[in-house]
Amino acid sequence: MRVLLVGNGGREHAIAWRLRRSKSVTEIVCPNGNPGIAREAQTPRVVLQTPAEWAAFALECQCDLVVVGPEAPLAAGVGDACEDRGIAVFGPRADGARIESSKAFAKDVMQAAGIPTARSEAFSDYDKALDYGRSLGLPVVVKADGLAAGKGVAICETGEQLAGALAENLKDGRFGDASRTVLVEEFLRGEEVSILAVTDGQEVFPLVPSQDHKRALDGDLGPNTGGMGAYAPAPVCTDEILSAALTDVLRPAIRELARRGIAYKGVLYAGLMVTDDGLRVLEFNCRFGDPETQVVLPLLDGDLGELMLACCEGRLGELVAPLRPGSPDSAITMRPEHAICLVLASGGYPDAYTTGKVISGLNAADDDSRAVIFHAGTVAGADGEVLTAGGRVLGLTAWGASLEAARDRVYELAGKVSFEGCHFRHDIAHRALSRRNPA
Ligand code: AMP
Ligand code: GLY
Repeated sequence: MRVLLVGNGGREHAIAWRLRRSKSVTEIVCPNGNPGIAREAQTPRVVLQTPAEWAAFALECQCDLVVVGPEAPLAAGVGDACEDRGIAVFGPRADGARIESSKAFAKDVMQAAGIPTARSEAFSDYDKALDYGRSLGLPVVVKADGLAAGKGVAICETGEQLAGALAENLKDGRFGDASRTVLVEEFLRGEEVSILAVTDGQEVFPLVPSQDHKRALDGDLGPNTGGMGAYAPAPVCTDEILSAALTDVLRPAIRELARRGIAYKGVLYAGLMVTDDGLRVLEFNCRFGDPETQVVLPLLDGDLGELMLACCEGRLGELVAPLRPGSPDSAITMRPEHAICLVLASGGYPDAYTTGKVISGLNAADDDSRAVIFHAGTVAGADGEVLTAGGRVLGLTAWGASLEAARDRVYELAGKVSFEGCHFRHDIAHRALSRRNPA
């Protein structure tokens, strides 16, 4: 089948790379894909903005399946437009994407379905929000309701910070419409884990649990970023917690959406906090995580294209049927290995940074069947060189029988790939590694 891939960053490179290794996929078209994606897919330069333009392009390319990477096109209705023209879409329609595009909606779904999450309330009135925030005690969390490019969450340690965060959102309209409503939420302590589950609206299949590294600097210090690296599996998510995530979080969420008339398919991403009192949902996303996808997909065995199409056609159960007497083996499994992705970022990121730096060493993993360099913010230069074009530039990814082996390999690669101002964390997977070797 021919696949149209929407999005052009590191997550989409990982998706394109994995789809290219799927028997069911003959061709991938990824408009404006970066030079890494261009190794796996056609990357025509076209301007596609509205959902209708995407749908028309999908028809023009005779694509059998549209795979949407980022949340913004899903929330804008790219899925609806393509589906309404008869094309299968891996990703929810705009109504389902609200699980990410409105935090208040997500909370409402969680409350209705009895899904464990932090106590919180939605407000558009500043004084009421402040009163409620004070009643929760410090620290307290303020979240813009809508999509805010990962910058909409403020953890307030003091009363001044709480008042400031509420004023930024509700009075100053920092995120425009996205911050007309805020969620004021209880602060949770614990360790975070990301569970990316694929679903056809009925069956839910969790991929291997992973852990992102959101802070810029070693030891989880410094400002928040879009993610400086990830690893999988995350041992904080024991089999018991994974099973609780499935029965208490993922399945009830899909059921509650269905009850509201929303047939959700694609990825449901649960960002969970593992607390002393059990797991709590921090957020839902309506798509694959970035950089989690870069470590999850290399561990997936089976045909990703077929898995995605089965989700669109309500046949997921056939592929992931648990082993039981008389049933065929599951066609999709997670290999029991370990993967690490290390993000190389531009100097200054997540604050202001410059781009256009020449990258060297990009072929360092070409002969390695257990490593790949995923491109995130890169662009082709005029003379065949590859230049930096974003804050997060590359995701050096390796996998193997042990986390240590994967880690050693990504840091070895980091010694071979460079560009001016490049910075990265030196402690990806530290939580998992220190669990095994407590100091
Ligand atoms: P979100 O976009 O909701 O995942 O929030 C971004 C990050 O803020 C999360 O990954 C957590 O690190 C942190 N965060 C969000 N909500 C809470 C909470 N209720 N308690 C503690 N940390 C939180
Ligand atoms: N890694 C966090 C996200 O994709 O939202």
